[in-house]
Amino acid sequence: MRVLQLLLFWLLCSHATGANILAVFPSVWRSHYLFGRRLLQQLVAGPQNHSVTLISPHAVAEGDGEPMLDNIREIRIEDPDLKQNWLDMGMSFEAEQMHAQSVMERFTRMIYAGTTNVDLLLSDAQLRKLLTSGEKFDLLIVDLFLSEALLGLAYYYGVPTVAISPTGANSWLNNMFGNPQSSALDPSNFLPFTERMNTRQRIANTLMSTFERLTYNFFHLISQQSVYSNHFELLVQELPNYRDLSKNLSLALINSHPAMDYPRAYLPNMLEVGGLHLLEPIELIVPNHVRSFIEAAPGGVIYMSLGAEVQTAQLPSDKLAILLDVFTHLKEFHFLLKWEADEFVQPLPENIMINSWWPQQAILAHPQVKVFISSCGQLSVWESIAGSTPILAIPILAEQEVLAKRLQHRGASLTVGYETFAYDALLHGIRQLTLNATYAHQTAKLRTRLNIENSEASAKALNHIEFILETGGADFLKSHANTLNFWRSEGLDVLLIILLGICGILTVPFVATCCILRRSYYNQAAQSQQQPYRATLKAVGRMNSYGDPSSCTSGAASEPLRRTRSAQSLSARSSCSSFSSTTPTTPSSTSTTPLDLTPPPPPTATLSPLQLYINQGVYASHTQESPQEVEKERAVL
Ligand SMILES: *[C@@H]1O[C@H](CO)[C@@H](O)[C@H](O)[C@H]1NC(C)=O
Ligand SMILES: *[C@@H]1O[C@H](CO)[C@@H](O)[C@H](O)[C@H]1NC(C)=O
Ligand SMILES: *[C@@H]1O[C@H](CO)[C@@H](O)[C@H](O)[C@H]1NC(C)=O
Repeated sequence: MRVLQLLLFWLLCSHATGANILAVFPSVWRSHYLFGRRLLQQLVAGPQNHSVTLISPHAVAEGDGEPMLDNIREIRIEDPDLKQNWLDMGMSFEAEQMHAQSVMERFTRMIYAGTTNVDLLLSDAQLRKLLTSGEKFDLLIVDLFLSEALLGLAYYYGVPTVAISPTGANSWLNNMFGNPQSSALDPSNFLPFTERMNTRQRIANTLMSTFERLTYNFFHLISQQSVYSNHFELLVQELPNYRDLSKNLSLALINSHPAMDYPRAYLPNMLEVGGLHLLEPIELIVPNHVRSFIEAAPGGVIYMSLGAEVQTAQLPSDKLAILLDVFTHLKEFHFLLKWEADEFVQPLPENIMINSWWPQQAILAHPQVKVFISSCGQLSVWESIAGSTPILAIPILAEQEVLAKRLQHRGASLTVGYETFAYDALLHGIRQLTLNATYAHQTAKLRTRLNIENSEASAKALNHIEFILETGGADFLKSHANTLNFWRSEGLDVLLIILLGICGILTVPFVATCCILRRSYYNQAAQSQQQPYRATLKAVGRMNSYGDPSSCTSGAASEPLRRTRSAQSLSARSSCSSFSSTTPTTPSSTSTTPLDLTPPPPPTATLSPLQLYINQGVYASHTQESPQEVEKERAVL
């Protein structure tokens, strides 16, 4: 009884304490952090009373419109400044430079920057303290973008891993999970192609995905391996191969949606959770002074932000001048502008309000807000669609260009190229989006398609995380594709064997025919020298009996005989059927089915001498086997 009580008490306790979750979001992009933090908020708000320790280079401030929560302990990595390192590695947060960087340059620099950032993060004093404090965790949630060395944490604590991917799936993530990825169907994240690629684009995509794969395997993984062994060798006795850890992930939460991106196949442990970061309608709060500014606008409000990272204040001055011209020209609109500097470039016009951070989703949900001028980042696009606000896109990166194309295709946006950014284009775009109701209508339609109302994405994500906790990592959902190496998983070994087989099949008859021809030629030549008369006879015999007895060894002497007999019966049958079809006047019913055993008809004058010979042969063989049967058949005839 007492044991039972204790057990019950323990069960209650363990339920009340919930899981202790470690989350690491090393990315310098604030949008990654916001996406992940929203997931953690929902996780700790659930009834299980989970608690979370979050490690990242970001933090939320009081006025950001992001709720602060007791159950999330945030450790902010400040001292090695990851953002500074990112800049030192040649990456940038300025629109101009980001746009100017070529695909290859951005790609290789990003790999460098990602690895050095993880190295810095793992050597941070606060993190070292946490690792040696003896605290235990039950789950690792990690933003796995160029940060695979962090998987050592999962091994160190012996816990399953949930990977989040705020930019949607990429080829590396698919590779780690063993998910199929085709360079004909799935465009690379680094190229500005949608899924409908023409031949030229598919060639570029194939080259890019090969390049991604090669650099990943022979360059990136090796540098991550060295970071991983550097930091975890001291903590763990026997360190497993780091590649084994990257193939041992339990769940991926991918920020995409088939109706926003395109429908494609994912393994059961990879979930598309686009829209996960959206706030509930009751959480949308616009500060009072902003609300009154919005509601005072005669023609509506236009909100502009180029994303969490890109600073509007750092735009080149010619582009800024164009923007301000347009804003001051459109007097009937009020403008909300994300502006990160303290000072505006000129005395602030009356219809513009600036702030370094806006409660974006709440603003976009306000019915007075008519247009969102955006660089088309994933999170911004979702928030705009949730508020049914059409977008004027100024894409800067390839992935933003793709999203802008998709939205424009669905009639929910117009695009002004960053290069072709001009007064007329901007003014025309704003006029179109505000005067023509089609765009707002299409955006509302897209909202329905994405099923934003039901917020099913977060429910799905939370359910799966609970499932991972309950099953200790859901090992049974991990794909067996990871047990195969590149050659096997691509089917190259099978292809090679089949090709060899085909070559073999083609060569054997060729070689055999050559041998036979050559041998018979030599035999013939040798014998025609000795006995010219017999040689001629033999040649005739060979034509009739498919085999040359003289070219066989004595052991296989029965072989040509059997072949001759089967050939004879075959031609006997065909001659029989041709007989019955050519003589329809015959009243006999015996020769109607192909299976009957009727012997061939007696030789007539129309048969050729060869057939005559064959038919006689059949008679002879039948008689040898069972004379009675032949008698019976004769009687039937
Ligand atoms: C939730 O867990 C914390 C410890 O992690 C504990 O202090 C707190 O009392 C728990 N809350 C509830 C409602 O059980
Ligand atoms: C509104 O926009 C749609 C889509 O671009 C276009 O087909 C339609 O002609 C426009 N209507 C007007 C009145 O300009
Ligand atoms: C793989 O993950 C499971 C949990 O999902 C864990 O039990 C196992 O130890 C991991 N294997 C390695 C080699 O880390």
